[in-house]
Amino acid sequence: MKHIFQKGSNEQAPVLLLLHGTGGDENDLLPLAKMIAPDSTVLSVRGNVSENGMPRFFRRLREGVFDEEDLVFRTKELHEFLDHAATEYSFDRSNIVAVGYSNGANIAASLLFHYENSLKGASLHHPMVPRRGVTLPSLNDTPIFIGAGKQDPICRPEETEELNGLLEEAGADVTLHWENGGHQLTQSELGEAINWFNKTF
Ligand code: MLT
Repeated sequence: MKHIFQKGSNEQAPVLLLLHGTGGDENDLLPLAKMIAPDSTVLSVRGNVSENGMPRFFRRLREGVFDEEDLVFRTKELHEFLDHAATEYSFDRSNIVAVGYSNGANIAASLLFHYENSLKGASLHHPMVPRRGVTLPSLNDTPIFIGAGKQDPICRPEETEELNGLLEEAGADVTLHWENGGHQLTQSELGEAINWFNKTF
């Protein structure tokens, strides 16, 4: 997968896996990584799917309706890419924390839904429920931050609560943070995510 790798000065710190929103690319979240964990190694990936030229991490049939077969395929592809990247760049595969926004948060949530040890933790900004009717692997206190908007028209509050419930049922340690706004990632949400990251890792 197309990506940017930046080796950090602290090899013990979590490796930040950056996952952009629809229409973004691997450059978008690099400034966030510097704010969250300036010493961390960064692996920023571009989604392999193109929707009218806009990169995404998996196909959708329409707004909010995911192509489930493609979601499962792309989730496996990303999971295996992380295995290969850890070998190629010699970092600890078990030390990856995802930071995803929107479509990137959805593929990160899908990694958590499908693979037991793919992520050490995740900061999910405006995620949706990636898939329904599946049994989640045991998430054993995996720390997860969810940033959500009370007025988010793409990811409605009920869906955020549903995702929170599913992750907690699987044993994850979820911190849910609400903003009053919509789908955008605000400074205040980012500030909360940075606090969560510093307290957690
Ligand atoms: C998705 O398709 O993953 C969600 O609707 C978020 C987005 O618009 O990218």
